[in-house]
Amino acid sequence: MTAVGIDAVEIWTGNLKLDLPGVFAPEKGEDPEKYTKGLGLNASSFPDSYEDIVTMGANAAHRLMERKRLEPDDIGRIDVATESAFDNSKPVSTYIAGCLESVFDGDFHHANKGERKFACIAGTQSLDDAYNWIRAGRNRGRGALVIATDTALYARDDPGEATQGAGAVALYITEDPDLVTLSTEQGYGSADETDFLKPNQQFPSVDGKRSVQVYLARMREALVDYQSVAGELHLDDVRFVPFHTPFPGMVRKAAMLAYRHIIRDTAVEDELAEEIGRQPRSEAFETDDEFRDALREYMDGLKETDRYQEWYAETIDPTLTIAREVGNWYTGSVHVARISALKYALEQGEDIAGQTLAVGSYGSGAQAEIHTEVVQDGWKEEIEALNLDEQLADRYELTWDDYEEIHDAHNHDMDVDIESMTAPDGEFVFGGWGRMGERE
Ligand code: CAA
Repeated sequence: MTAVGIDAVEIWTGNLKLDLPGVFAPEKGEDPEKYTKGLGLNASSFPDSYEDIVTMGANAAHRLMERKRLEPDDIGRIDVATESAFDNSKPVSTYIAGCLESVFDGDFHHANKGERKFACIAGTQSLDDAYNWIRAGRNRGRGALVIATDTALYARDDPGEATQGAGAVALYITEDPDLVTLSTEQGYGSADETDFLKPNQQFPSVDGKRSVQVYLARMREALVDYQSVAGELHLDDVRFVPFHTPFPGMVRKAAMLAYRHIIRDTAVEDELAEEIGRQPRSEAFETDDEFRDALREYMDGLKETDRYQEWYAETIDPTLTIAREVGNWYTGSVHVARISALKYALEQGEDIAGQTLAVGSYGSGAQAEIHTEVVQDGWKEEIEALNLDEQLADRYELTWDDYEEIHDAHNHDMDVDIESMTAPDGEFVFGGWGRMGERE
């Protein structure tokens, strides 16, 4: 069976930067460590006035096509995942295809285009759709372009305001890919939840505390479901676990689940079994409450052990490096986590070809998905080609006044027109509602 997966990735950050400990915390009267240590964030990427989901998505896709020397004829499918869409009929992929057609020879008339919505998990769902399309043999030798693009902004003074972000990730899905192959097996956890909603409104209505609990509940179900189809993975079998990262502090909690459910550490379980006289598994307890108490005790003890802390530092922490500097990119977030991990391996001089990633995607509303990926021989070249460090360093640093102005400008209800804070440099810029971006 032909291997299918991600051949290449590109990333595009919003051109502005909001410093959380330096600018945001003093204005909010909060301890900067609430953001840097509690949420795990240093900064957010922010879109300038000429940037939106179309321009950021088109810019990421443009870089990817140029670097891989792709023409429109090589691409048979364009799917955009977003939870920041502005059009309930025409998909964002058509706007992005229009941008790309203005600079490449040929057109995308042959390409199937769509838009995927299921909060932040939509990016992974589009990846799954592309995988299925190729595996079904419907691609006629062409690859699929998946673009996850969002302006993840919250209303001012919403608790989520500290976790904002804006950016896009473009993924090229093919047979025999250079970066990672995807597993056939997946695990799901899905339920009707109302913790995070955007019913025809610019900023989400969020029950933040509950959203954290729902994330963990669905992720736990997905992990158990994954085990039921793929069997257990062991500690040494998984190199990195990239999770959807609304903020790194969320992943700190999810990592405990992964450790407990995917990577069953029998040494730690035996230790606990000795302490409590039983194996920490549900069948060993008479009531659910008894089991829950034992499990909580186990989890609390676990995170203090050297063994867990070493595993976290090597397997989870490297997935969070980029998120710390850019905030939440909603649909792109788990794909940023994958890039972050691979970039870490590259910087450490580690060869991870043939190693496994266990990827935990999540979308409010709510659904979690676990699948695995195997890193391919071409991974180093792909990650080396990214210019992420330059993009991050080139962002304009917002003052508090700038921030208020640009936040209002992106609030479409307020209709504020402002001068941009940076000058576009060979990139697509916002052409007005309903129009594709133009390249400047
Ligand atoms: N020093 C160190 N740590 C500190 C601190 C300090 N001075 N002050 C607070 N902290 C810690 C807290 O103890 C807490 O850590 P734990 O959760 O580990 O206990 C952490 O910092 C955050 O503090 P609070 O819980 O007080 O923060 P908050 O209530 O202001 O905001 C939030 C947290 C409600 C999750 C908010 O960020 C939010 O609403 N975010 C948007 C929703 C979201 O991202 N939910 C995540 C799951 S849903 C999802 O994943 C989909 C998606 O992308 C949106």
